[in-house]
Amino acid sequence: MKRPNGIVIAIDGPAGSGKSTVAKLVAKRLGYLYVDTGAMYRAVALKALRLGIEIHDEVVMSHLAQMTDIVLQPQNDGSVRVFLDGEDVTEVIRTPEISEASSIVSSHQGVREALKAKQKLLAEQGGVVMEGRDVQTVIVPDAEVKIFLTASLEERAKRRWLELRYRGVEIAYEQVLQELKERDERDSNRLIAPLRKAPDAIEIDTTDMTIDEVVNKIFKLAKQKQTC
Ligand code: DC
Repeated sequence: MKRPNGIVIAIDGPAGSGKSTVAKLVAKRLGYLYVDTGAMYRAVALKALRLGIEIHDEVVMSHLAQMTDIVLQPQNDGSVRVFLDGEDVTEVIRTPEISEASSIVSSHQGVREALKAKQKLLAEQGGVVMEGRDVQTVIVPDAEVKIFLTASLEERAKRRWLELRYRGVEIAYEQVLQELKERDERDSNRLIAPLRKAPDAIEIDTTDMTIDEVVNKIFKLAKQKQTC
């Protein structure tokens, strides 16, 4: 069934595989909406930590997610600002502490259900590049383009470490590597909506590719589907 605003491009992959950078650029080139589903889990995690809520408590966390207002507001320059209950939290959700907490929070079924409804709604009209862990398997299984991005653990840790350093976060490379490894295991081995490549997804290993190369490849795939 055709969607009124265009196709859906679903990009999933582990942390540091380049999803956000690539998805943002593809969306800009197509004039599509960019949706970062991880930002939603990060926002819920931030709220819980601020309120001193035990993030392992599934019942409380699910209730909290249902009562949380998250808005992803596209900007003219192609970036997106994240609002949590009306407050701009775009930068504060990008710390290693929130990365860790969001990975735990996202393993709860109730939390996923609450955010799934918002994500499905955003994809419904099409014209969307949506990235996360379960976009191609759970949120939009009929997406026209499904991409599974990967890269070696060392390369992903290097990218994340450089990004954190650029933002002034003092952290050792070894710590980033260890935390990524733990997050990979949690995100891939959880019972509900684990990180998986859909059988009909195209896998792109970005380890030795430039951002432009990855963007061009996905852009071409999208153009082919748009004309179908
Ligand atoms: O993409 P990210 O690193 O910002 O995501 C933060 C965490 O949220 C990640 O460790 C797993 C979780 N997540 C998820 O479970 N499902 C998604 N669709 C997106 C993110």
